[in-house]
Amino acid sequence: MPDAVPSGTVTLVGGGPGDPDLMTVGALKALAAADVVLYDRLAPREQLEEWAPRALLIDVGKTPGHHAVPQEEINRLVVEHAITGRAVVRLKGGDPFVFGRGGEELAACREHGIPTRVVPGVTSAIAVPASVGLPVTHREVSRAFTVISGHVPLTADELDALVKLGGTIVVLMGIGTLPQLGAGLLRHGMPGTMPFAIIERGFHADQRTTVATLGELVRVLGEVQPRSPAVVVIGEVVRQASVDLHSLLAEAGA
Ligand SMILES: C[S@@+](CC[C@H](N)C(=O)[O-])C[C@H]1O[C@@H](n2cnc3c(N)ncnc32)[C@H](O)[C@@H]1O
Repeated sequence: MPDAVPSGTVTLVGGGPGDPDLMTVGALKALAAADVVLYDRLAPREQLEEWAPRALLIDVGKTPGHHAVPQEEINRLVVEHAITGRAVVRLKGGDPFVFGRGGEELAACREHGIPTRVVPGVTSAIAVPASVGLPVTHREVSRAFTVISGHVPLTADELDALVKLGGTIVVLMGIGTLPQLGAGLLRHGMPGTMPFAIIERGFHADQRTTVATLGELVRVLGEVQPRSPAVVVIGEVVRQASVDLHSLLAEAGA
């Protein structure tokens, strides 16, 4: 790492769930002023050249299980470009602080005395369910929502706490561990009639939504074979979503 007095800046920018319309004004302003943009796989990227016309664009995208550029290398690149005096934007999908490792990148910058700023983004945890009219809270139905990562299976205590809390469960990175999660929730007392929704590739042309009940999870996963990226919502709020979902649930006998 160069041993120099930092003169550049780093702006950690949330790019939302992939729809250019869900970029904030702050995000677009930061991109317009950027010298360097390091962007992720799930960040909106099609119009980057237009949004950041002066910037060097660096793809550090990760695919699940495949870290194209290791996190330490991303931290190093961000710091290195800032130390040489550039306005660096680190563009991430959704919100940088929701399972985005944004905190680690900021810490790396602070270690080197680099001025940093955060532009929050629209998180997929709320926006992707909203894309099918699914509210994560609803009066007299759910007054809490818990956003969990499915990266690692939950412990028995965590499953127990979730079932006792009784609100909506939103799962990111959860396709791989969904069978364990469903079985665990049922084991800890969640009824088999509890509806869930799997929303794949939210805000993209090939977005797909699957709705059923927990008791049918294994069969439905076998039939539908959902793939990442997807947001999973488990809770009674699923019944509040659009009319289409109602008919799907009715077909599923929920
Ligand atoms: C590493 S996490 C980053 C989350 C991000 N920071 C946020 O706030 O949305 C990536 C996960 O977000 C979810 N995700 C992000 N964008 C999505 C989209 N457009 N459609 C469905 N899921 C999405 C998926 O669960 C994916 O595996």
